[in-house]
Amino acid sequence: MLANKRILLIIGGGIAAFKVPDLIRRLQDRGASVTPVLTRAGEEFVTPLTVSALAGQKVYRDLFDLTEESEMGHIQLSRSADLIVVAPATADMMAKMANGLANDLASTLLLATDTPVLIAPAMNVRMWDHPATRRNLAQLVADGVGVIGPNEGGMACGEFGPGRMSEPLEIVAAIEAKLADGPLKGRRVLVTSGPTHEPIDPVRYIANRSSGAQGTALAAALRDLGAHVVFVTGPASVPPPSGVEVVRVETAREMSEAVDAALPCDAAVFAAAVADWRVASASDRKLKKTRDGMPNLEFAENPDILARVSQMTGGRPPLVVGFAAETDDVIAHATAKRARKGCDWIVANDVSPATGIMGGSENAVVLISDEGAEEWPRMGKAEVATRLAARIAAAVAS
Ligand code: CTP
Repeated sequence: MLANKRILLIIGGGIAAFKVPDLIRRLQDRGASVTPVLTRAGEEFVTPLTVSALAGQKVYRDLFDLTEESEMGHIQLSRSADLIVVAPATADMMAKMANGLANDLASTLLLATDTPVLIAPAMNVRMWDHPATRRNLAQLVADGVGVIGPNEGGMACGEFGPGRMSEPLEIVAAIEAKLADGPLKGRRVLVTSGPTHEPIDPVRYIANRSSGAQGTALAAALRDLGAHVVFVTGPASVPPPSGVEVVRVETAREMSEAVDAALPCDAAVFAAAVADWRVASASDRKLKKTRDGMPNLEFAENPDILARVSQMTGGRPPLVVGFAAETDDVIAHATAKRARKGCDWIVANDVSPATGIMGGSENAVVLISDEGAEEWPRMGKAEVATRLAARIAAAVAS
C-alpha cells in the first residue's frame, strides 16, 4: 500500500512516543521508507539509537546549527518526502506549527516545505480542550494539515478523556488515506449539519431533535475521498470529524452567513435541520414568570439557505444537494421540495418517530434527482454517507 513512499516522521516529546517504534515497523512492512527526526523533547522518551536502528536510517536530531551552510541541506529532508507525519504531536508542536514558528529542526522543516502534513496529537485532556489548542487545531485544519485522533481513554497522567495518541494501525490508515489520490482531491465541499438554536431569551431557545450524525458521517466520507471539507455545524450532539474545517454556528442566520463565507465550492450539501422560524424579537434579558407572564412569541422567517444557494445566479456550486426530513408522503413531498428550492438532488428520509431515524444510527433514504427517485435500503448512517460521497465524487468529477 505504501510502496516507495517516503515518510518524514517527526517524533515529538510525549509519553506516546513509546508507540513510535511500532509505527515505524508497520510503515516499513507496507513498503514505506521512514526518515526519523527526533525533537529535543522527543529524545527524553525514545532514544536516537532505537529510532535509527529501527528505521535503518540516520536519525536527525536537533543538535546542529541551522545557520551553518553545511547543515542547510537538512531542509531538503522535508521537501523530498511524500508526507510529513508528526507523532506524537504535542500541544507545543501544534502551537508552533499553527503560528509558523521555526526555532528548531522540526519546526523549521515543517515551515520550509509544502509537502502534505499529518499530525497525531497526544497530550493531557485539559491541554487538548484548552481554547488555545482548539484555536491552533482549527488553524492547522484550515491550513490543510491532516489530523488523526486523539482517542479517548485513560491517560498516563491518570486523567480520562480525549488526548491519547491514535494507535499505530490507525495512524497507518490515515497515512494511506492521505497519500491516496482520492477522487475529490483538490475539491472543496461544503456540508451543513446539526440543528440550529433560535433564542427566546439569553437562557432559552427553540431547537429540534437533529443530532448531526448524518452530516458528520458525510463530512468524514467526503474527507476520506480527498475533499477539503468546510463543515458548518449547529450545536450537534456528536463531535465534528477530524480533518475538516469546522465552522460552529448557533442560529439559522449565522449558518447562512457561514455558508456565504465558505463559497465558492465544488459541491454543497445541506444536511442541517435548520429552523424555519426564529423568535422575532428575542428578549435580551431573561423572561421572568412573575414579571413578564405567559410569553406570547411572535416568529419571523429565517433565510432558506438551501433555496438561496440553489438559486444563485453567480457562484452557484455546480452540485447542490438538499435533505428532506418528512413524516408522510416522503417521495411526493421531497420531489416538490426539490423543485421548489431548485437544488440538484434531494436526499429524502422518513423521520416519523416509529422509524427511529432521527437521533438514531440508521437511515433509509430516497435519492431524488433528474433521474427520478432511487430508494436505498435501510443501512447505517456511515454507509449512507459513504454511498452518497461516492455519488457526489462521480458527479463532481464528470
Ligand atoms: N434548509 C435550509 N435553510 C432553511 C431550511 C431548510 O438550508 N431555513 C435546508 C435543509 O438543510 C435541508 C432542506 O433545506 O437540506 C430541507 O429542509 P426542510 O426543513 O425539510 O424543508 P422546509 O423548507 O422547511 O420545508 P417544509 O417545512 O415544508 O418541510
